[in-house]
Amino acid sequence: MLKILCRRRLWTLLSKCSYAQITVHEGETLNTFLFYCCYMFFIVLSLFSGIGVSLIPFRDCNVGRPLERRQSFSAGAPYPANCSKMVVKSASVNDGGSRIDMEWNDGKMSRYHAVWLRHHCLCEECYSTKVNQVLIEVDKLPLEIKVKDVKIADDGRIQILWDDNHCGVMSSDFLRKYCYSLSSLSARKAAVKTSLYTGSTLPSVTWADCEADDKHVYRWLKNINEHGLGLIKGAPVVPNLVSEFIPKHLAQLLDNTYGKIYDVIAMEHPTNVAYTRSKLQFHTDLPYYESAPGIQFLHCLKFDVSLVGGETIFVDLFAVCEEFRQTNPVEFKTLTTTPCTFVRNHESRDTPIHLHIQRPVINLNNEHEIIGVFWSPVSAGVAEIAQDVVPQYYRAYQMFARAISNFHTKNEVRLQPGDLVAFNNRRMAHSRNSFSGGRGERHLQGCYVNICEYKSRLISLTKKYGNVSTIKRVGNMDWM
Ligand code: OGA
Ligand code: ZN
Ligand code: ZN
Repeated sequence: MLKILCRRRLWTLLSKCSYAQITVHEGETLNTFLFYCCYMFFIVLSLFSGIGVSLIPFRDCNVGRPLERRQSFSAGAPYPANCSKMVVKSASVNDGGSRIDMEWNDGKMSRYHAVWLRHHCLCEECYSTKVNQVLIEVDKLPLEIKVKDVKIADDGRIQILWDDNHCGVMSSDFLRKYCYSLSSLSARKAAVKTSLYTGSTLPSVTWADCEADDKHVYRWLKNINEHGLGLIKGAPVVPNLVSEFIPKHLAQLLDNTYGKIYDVIAMEHPTNVAYTRSKLQFHTDLPYYESAPGIQFLHCLKFDVSLVGGETIFVDLFAVCEEFRQTNPVEFKTLTTTPCTFVRNHESRDTPIHLHIQRPVINLNNEHEIIGVFWSPVSAGVAEIAQDVVPQYYRAYQMFARAISNFHTKNEVRLQPGDLVAFNNRRMAHSRNSFSGGRGERHLQGCYVNICEYKSRLISLTKKYGNVSTIKRVGNMDWM
């Protein structure tokens, strides 16, 4: 009891004569001096009285430690484009130590909870910069932890002393980038929003440029990110070219029930409508996989000039969904809350497959933003839904199909031999006009890569040639 009283009195004394627990400002050297005097006094006293206190001088903790937390991607730039550097002007411990409020040199205010700061502490005890992983054991994270003191070091680092005498450190860049005020979060959300591509031809780069310099690969991946699709022109007309080109520049091909590479060609005994001359309805590929392929490629090897039809058509489902939300709010809600069944069965194969999943067509995050769309009427399984929702489900399902087919903006292309089109299969629906006439062939080779592998490569190349804060949502169910 005596010790507690003694500690309280000492802390009150310290608070009065140092900057502890009051607002601190950069360059207040008198306060720093007073702080040191009191700190030394406290240490000497604690040695005699046995009061627990960290003997590590607060000022020196974590000096020289790298403070870049390797979060691979965030749309948030640490500071607005028109500002070269954001600096914390002042920081104060408030609400009895449960939070720190910061004011930045552009006038912005940020608030950080003590527990958030502790969880994201970048000291060597809490975070390994060698393996880029969190070391804190969450089951031991003290939820009621309080901040005892905060200091802005001369180099802009924020030093934090918690009430268990843990001494942590963070960079102001980190704090600004991940500021979670409502305005910061909504600015980050706005930055990842996609917009509809209205160009009359597909955005394109050339195969030779991509082979010569990866900044053109970056342009290609950026086109896919911004517009949902990107064409490479002038690729060699060589079967299986994709098996070399795509792993070299992007990612490993995704294995699936059709193999790593599949041939889209009219066959006598097709296993899929795609392998005929018939029309293909708008769809996304392989939605019956939990992880439906992210980026799809179609490499045109043959398209006989005598054939009529066979154009490939793309529609941006993110844009369709946004309009559908406005024009058909009830049906929109039905498609976000009622599971649709997607199925692929091949019973008669050497290795039979039974792919089956129930999920909504339109997937939303906690803020009702669209984070993924799955659509394939030809892969519809049996609707196993409650009887009272059946009529409204079919109405919504059909209204959405019509919204796609009748969408005002479509990108249509008659692929030419040497074209390699890539598109985001988690965002763009594609279809094909039926074709007829001529005896010649139409032959495409298709393959996929995982959406997260694509996003990862996009980030790497954007770090090299662009600005990661411009990267858009890819539809990989990421809630940001
Ligand atoms: C497919 C497909 C399109 C085409 O194979 O999944 O949609 O143009 N093909 O043949
Ligand atoms: Zn720490
Ligand atoms: Zn398809």
